[in-house]
Amino acid sequence: MIRVLLVCLGNICRSPTAEVVFRSEVDKAGLGGLVDIVSCGTAGYHIDEPPDSRSQTAAKARGYDMSALRGRQVQRDDFEYFDFILAMDKSNLVELKQRCPKQYIAKLDLFLTYANNYQEIEVPDPYYGGQQGFSRVLDLVEDASTGLVEVIKARL
Ligand code: 4NP
Repeated sequence: MIRVLLVCLGNICRSPTAEVVFRSEVDKAGLGGLVDIVSCGTAGYHIDEPPDSRSQTAAKARGYDMSALRGRQVQRDDFEYFDFILAMDKSNLVELKQRCPKQYIAKLDLFLTYANNYQEIEVPDPYYGGQQGFSRVLDLVEDASTGLVEVIKARL
């Protein structure tokens, strides 16, 4: 079992989008059941809330259902439990580094490290922008999800 934690700020836009997209890629690769996928936010503003309706709309247009997800904040035990702890942007990564016990620091990285087609290293926060930003999130996380599945397949 490989455990993957996807992290953004609020856990209502980017990381829950990444969670459903990555889960779909894992299932398509026949690895469902071998990869444990969870998302969370560094902040606690939206604990137990469903994903942002704009994220849900954009995801639905590509066949992903986010409706069952609920906001969760990163917790202390996560650093030990998960194998990959992947942040959507650099500020999320800085937050994680500040909280992460030293022995687990190597688990932290940016999610877009695994993207092959896009050169960006951060998934831009779409919260204060228009619907287009939410489609952009999907473009980026689809690319990184494909790349991460390849890496995990090689490890299993
Ligand atoms: P996320 O987006 O980190 O992609 O979930 C945000 C959600 C909420 C807020 C900021 C970003 N907020 O300030 O409440």
